[in-house]
Amino acid sequence: MSIRIIGTGSALPERCVTNDDLAKLMDTSDEWIRERTGIGSRYLSTGETVAYLAGKACERALENAGKEAEEVELLLAATCSPEMALPCTACQIQAQIGAGGAAAFDLNAACAGFLFALHTAYAYIEAGIYKNALIVGAEVLSKLMDWTDRGTCILFGDGAGAVFVEKCGESGILGFSQHSDGARGGVLSCAARGLHNPYFKDASEGGFVRMDGREVFAFAVRQVPAAISEALEKARLRPEDVDLYVLHQANKRIIEGIAKRLGVGPEKFPINLDRVGNTSSAAIPLLLDELNGAGRLRRGMTVALSGFGAGLTYGACVLKW
Ligand code: COA
Repeated sequence: MSIRIIGTGSALPERCVTNDDLAKLMDTSDEWIRERTGIGSRYLSTGETVAYLAGKACERALENAGKEAEEVELLLAATCSPEMALPCTACQIQAQIGAGGAAAFDLNAACAGFLFALHTAYAYIEAGIYKNALIVGAEVLSKLMDWTDRGTCILFGDGAGAVFVEKCGESGILGFSQHSDGARGGVLSCAARGLHNPYFKDASEGGFVRMDGREVFAFAVRQVPAAISEALEKARLRPEDVDLYVLHQANKRIIEGIAKRLGVGPEKFPINLDRVGNTSSAAIPLLLDELNGAGRLRRGMTVALSGFGAGLTYGACVLKW
């Protein structure tokens, strides 16, 4: 038994912000951002919420799969930028789309969140607990950015991507890996609201994303190829057997570095970060939806997904489309 992705969907805020737009707000340039990251523009919320974008992406994934919301048994939302601490984003989406029969909860593994959620759904379905799952990665990270920190705020964009998966008889997921390295969590972090109770008062309202870009870059180029190789080994496949590598969209140079380490040509590594930036947990399903819409994902293809981010968290999944 395994699972197969049978529908994809995505949603972006309306407002597209180019590098030139950002250069009007801070000391940066299109040339600097493109050269160091490959990013040309990103979409930023002007009111769209994580739950709203996630709900839209879920509706589109269901439509693409030819399924009704009432059929969903498990609804997982991966996000690190929810509007509400309670109820969780997955429950808000459930109400929005009318998936009343689903068990719904959130999962936060930052930019690896969608991948970890996919593995969670796989475990539930493999165990025979549910037959299908709707999995969404959604972020409005722009509210967690320090817009005076030009080394960080230029990287991220807002958006959502979703997939609908269901039990399948043949091989779907062929191998996966997932890891966390909490001891190195300080290189990419964001503080939540401080403690405030009758016995202790910490006035902190919550912080902004803080990042050591060079450390994160080095971590990604080293650990992601290792995580992909581990998943490939479990699948008894070689890097060249994979048709498409759908990686977390953080930085074009990171993706090129990973391709080089795996010894695979860059043409197998589709990119959309030039248009949408780093959308964290939304990045992988957003790109999957673009590829699906463009007819670049055909049944029987071998696809490798890989995500990495704050935590530090990272992993990979090799599957038959
Ligand atoms: N525009 C212009 N100059 C900028 C800038 C910007 N947006 N951001 C930083 N700079 C400047 C710095 O101030 C520094 O200037 P200085 O040499 O005068 O001090 C110079 O550019 C180099 O900065 P540095 O941070 O060393 O650049 P870098 O080559 O490491 O690139 C990143 C910075 C963030 C693009 C790069 O480290 C990176 O992409 N890391 C991975 C981050 C990531 O993907 N995080 C998310 C993971 S999920």
